[in-house]
Order: sequence, then structure tokens, then C-alpha cells
Amino acid sequence: MQQRILGRTGLAVSVVGVGTWQFGGEWGRTYAADDVRAILAAARDCGINLIDTAECYGDHLSERLIGETLPGRREDWVIATKWGHRFHACFKRDAAVGPADLVAQLEGSLKALRTDYVDILQLHSAADDLFAAPGMWEAAREAQRQGKVRFLGNSIPTASTHAFQVDRSTEVGVDVIQLVYNRLHRVPEAEIFPSIARQNLGALARVPLASGFLSGKYRPGHTFPAHDVREVWKNARRDEMLAEVERIAATELPPGMPLAAWALAWVLKNPQVTAVIPGCKDADQVRANAAAALVGQI
Ligand SMILES: NC(=O)c1ccc[n+]([C@@H]2O[C@H](COP(=O)([O-])OP(=O)(O)OC[C@H]3O[C@@H](n4cnc5c(N)ncnc54)[C@H](OP(=O)(O)O)[C@@H]3O)[C@@H](O)[C@H]2O)c1
Repeated sequence: MQQRILGRTGLAVSVVGVGTWQFGGEWGRTYAADDVRAILAAARDCGINLIDTAECYGDHLSERLIGETLPGRREDWVIATKWGHRFHACFKRDAAVGPADLVAQLEGSLKALRTDYVDILQLHSAADDLFAAPGMWEAAREAQRQGKVRFLGNSIPTASTHAFQVDRSTEVGVDVIQLVYNRLHRVPEAEIFPSIARQNLGALARVPLASGFLSGKYRPGHTFPAHDVREVWKNARRDEMLAEVERIAATELPPGMPLAAWALAWVLKNPQVTAVIPGCKDADQVRANAAAALVGQI
């Protein structure tokens, strides 16, 4: 497994990590500890050391499953979690970004993860007007001073087309940006990646498989189970995106290469990307995604 340095944090992370929104139960199935144990063991065996989770993938549920099953030594992993959303029920959450919310959510995350520090604490996709909520970044830096957080991150909203939040990273103490970047969503190339480069920030590319659409498994007209986020939240441009995937598979994919591996390698060929964090539903997906690091230049 290749590693890259996460910008100015100096942390060495595997270029393929594991996204764990799935463990919260909003992707068409629920997870037990044994499912997550198998996924994380496969990740470790493939040389993956980077996990992305959040306070609201279930009510600290994804974090709890990770805390219960993390293999090996805590210090061998780079764990990124988030604050800023309050989970009420599947597909129901609201923003909670004040300093007291941060402190309470971080304590919840540390307890669930069974650790006394997280490597990266990311603001969870807050709108631009909440990015500067009074006292929020001061509280985040205080948590860092107390040793509960090694580095601050910002998981910018999907709708960010300009670098408003990213440009202010140095000012507020953020060292890592998480952003949506994949073959179907290249918006960050215009302003966001240049800002990341100027400040030497780490960049974690989320949704690198376009929510699984870039796996090639789904055709236009496909519907997902009623309790799958792709049926609940992500259905607006679904057929258009799936048609685009068919076109890409026919015109850009080298013969014999699995589309999912190609899609991850496509993201990694951008030198500004430190790592991709594909969501993985089982150990086979972890292994397939880890293999994308071996694809090399495409
Ligand atoms: N606001 C935020 O901060 C935010 C938002 C979104 C995501 N994230 C983070 O980013 C991570 C990744 O994003 P995502 O999970 O939304 O989207 P994604 O990584 O683009 O897609 C994940 C889905 O792709 C499918 N898949 C994964 N590996 C595959 C493989 N090798 N072959 C075929 N299908 C495969 C799986 O679904 P099926 O097998 O069911 O198709 C999986 O649930 C999340 O888990 C989360 O940690 C953060």
C-alpha cells in the first residue's frame, strides 16, 4: 500500500482509506460488530491505516463499532471523525456547531471510539454562514491544546463551488480538507485544489465512487431499497449520472480493468489528493479498493 503525507500535518496515510458512513445503517443494511471487525481486519491486512467516521453515522454508532473492533494498536491508525451534526434518526439530522456542541460531540466520539484522542477532527459540512459560528474554532483549538485532537479538518459541503471555507483554513487552524471529488464531480479543480496547494493542506477525497455509481454495477432506471441513502437523498440526478458512467466505461476505461479500481486511481492521479476514502460495505470491497493503489498511472 502506498502512503502519502497528509499536507502540513506530516502524517503518513495510506492512499486508500476506509469510509464508514455505511456502518450507521443508512446504506440499506445494518451492521454488527462482527461485520465491522472483518472489514477493519481486511483493511489492516491490506496496509490501510486511515479511517473516516463521524458523530452522525448513527448516533456515534459507526464510531462505537470501530472502537469495539479496531485491530492492532491504536497508534497505528489515523482516525478522522467529525463534529457539527446532531443525529435524530436515520436520514434526520440537523446542524449543531456551537462550542458546547463541539465539546459534547467530541466527548461522545472519544467514548465511542474507546480512545483518548482523535487524529483529525473535521467540521461536518457546515454551510458558509455557520463556518464562522462564534467561539467554534476557539473551542476546536482548545480541544487540540488539551491533546484530545491532533489536527483540525474541514469536510466541506458537497455544494461548495468556491474556496470560501478552504481559503480560511490557515486562519482558523485547519490542516486537512475533506471534499467530494470523483470522475463525475470535478468542481474542486477550479478553486479548491489551488487553495489546498497554496496552504499545503492534506486532502481526503470522499465519495470517490460517486456513491457506488462508478462501480459499474448500476444502470439507468435502477432503484435502491427504501432505507438506502441513494433512494432517500441521492436520487435527483441518478439516471443522468448512471448514463454518464456508461459513457465513461465505454470510452475511458482500459480493457480488463474494474471500473471501481479505475475510478479510485483516477482520483489518486491528482497530486493534490492525499487519499481516497471509499465507503466499504464488506471486506471484499475493502480488498478491491485497496488494489486500486496498485493500478498506478492511468
Ligand atoms: N459530509 C461528509 O463529511 C461526508 C459525506 C459523504 C461521505 N463521507 C465519507 O466519505 C466516505 C465515502 O463516501 P460514500 O460512502 O458516500 O460514497 P462512495 O465511497 O463513493 O461509495 C460507497 C459505496 O460504493 C459501493 N462500493 C464500494 N466499494 C466498491 C467496490 N470495490 N466495488 C463495487 N462497489 C463498491 C458500496 O455500495 P454498494 O455495494 O451498495 O453499491 C459503497 O457503499 C463515507 O463512507 C464517509 O466516511 C463524508
